Amino acid sequence: MLNGSEGLGSDYGVLEPDDPLNPRHFTGVRQRGTSHDGLPLWCYTSKRFFDAEMEHVFRPNWNLLERAELVPNPGDYHTLSFMNVPLMMVRGTDRKVRVFANTCPHRGALVATGKGNCKSFRCPYHSWVFALDGKLLGAPAFDDANDKPLIDDSNRHEYSLFELPCDVWGGFVFIKFRKTPVTLAEYLGAVPERLASHRLEDMICVRRKVYDMQANWKAFAENYMDALHIPNVHRDSLARWHGTRVPEPEPGENVTAGFVGHEKGSMLLLPFPGYDGFPAMEHIREDRKKGTYFMTARPGMMMTLGNDGALVFNSEPLTPTTSRLTVSSLFPKSTVARDDFRQIAENYYRRNEIVVGEDVEISLRQAAGLNSPYARMPRLCKGEVRLNEIHNWILDRVVGPAAAA
Ligand code: FES
Ligand SMILES: [Fe+2]
Repeated sequence: MLNGSEGLGSDYGVLEPDDPLNPRHFTGVRQRGTSHDGLPLWCYTSKRFFDAEMEHVFRPNWNLLERAELVPNPGDYHTLSFMNVPLMMVRGTDRKVRVFANTCPHRGALVATGKGNCKSFRCPYHSWVFALDGKLLGAPAFDDANDKPLIDDSNRHEYSLFELPCDVWGGFVFIKFRKTPVTLAEYLGAVPERLASHRLEDMICVRRKVYDMQANWKAFAENYMDALHIPNVHRDSLARWHGTRVPEPEPGENVTAGFVGHEKGSMLLLPFPGYDGFPAMEHIREDRKKGTYFMTARPGMMMTLGNDGALVFNSEPLTPTTSRLTVSSLFPKSTVARDDFRQIAENYYRRNEIVVGEDVEISLRQAAGLNSPYARMPRLCKGEVRLNEIHNWILDRVVGPAAAA
């Protein structure tokens, strides 16, 4: 393993040290001042830092999974993976959405594949059958050498599908990998109330685009909060919008929500001819009609919420240097029902190809460069100040509270 702390004086941020979680590496990130250090660049490539993020940032916290409308009816199921873990999202006969590990409690086979509707799940390997709420209904011929059933009413509950903590806000399904006391409502702070009039629960996802990123999950999450890149990377696109940030109190510890006021239109489009959009949703609060929200729920969810729809990003870690970025376009059901929906929606998709394309390209370009032995401790200016907030939020969980630094 490379060791950058030897013979490099205080510049030990260059290469991964032997003790990557030692708070001494992050003093320049922790210090509050007029500028900050960024995370050492090995935090974007280190296996040990990544493992600590999985354990302390992702598994115990709420993560955006998908939209609940993928399973609209009782018995609907939709299989997917998140952070390399196979999962199944299921709507029960009680209409509740549940998320199970898609791993048979017998010998591990995928219980379901694809999507569909069913009354129960039968694992194809040895025909164990599970109810929509995950309970084991049957395990044929599962007897011991004396022909005595190995599973009966006394231990059947031990063989249910593993159910992950799951809750829904605004039509978004969130999961945790571990039971922790914080509810989704507590986690999201003031965001649900602040965005209530947008009625996210009445929107549907009409388009998903998935980017296989050769980049750490933080690359895109940081880019989303980076004001400094906009006049550079988006010089001829997003930067042509002129908006004014409307001050609002911070909505909570794990979330951000910033409103940028602008006279007309939606930042889900570009302010050029040929980008006609849908009218503002009538139900949005009057003071929110002229502008765009930029919301994040750490670690990986980001959402640009116009007066006409939403663009949702999910940056999902896969390995230290790869991630999956899912970009979802949402519009109100009433908009999707319009005769001209498909034609006008193309303007939004075209904008995304340009703007999201610019962000993806620059994130990949950054990832390609930061693994160099000559990479150094980054310095952040005021336009990048929100990156410091992300970094401290991560460090609070990965290496412990700032006071320990
Ligand atoms: S692995 Fe599923 S029933 Fe055996
Ligand atoms: Fe950007």
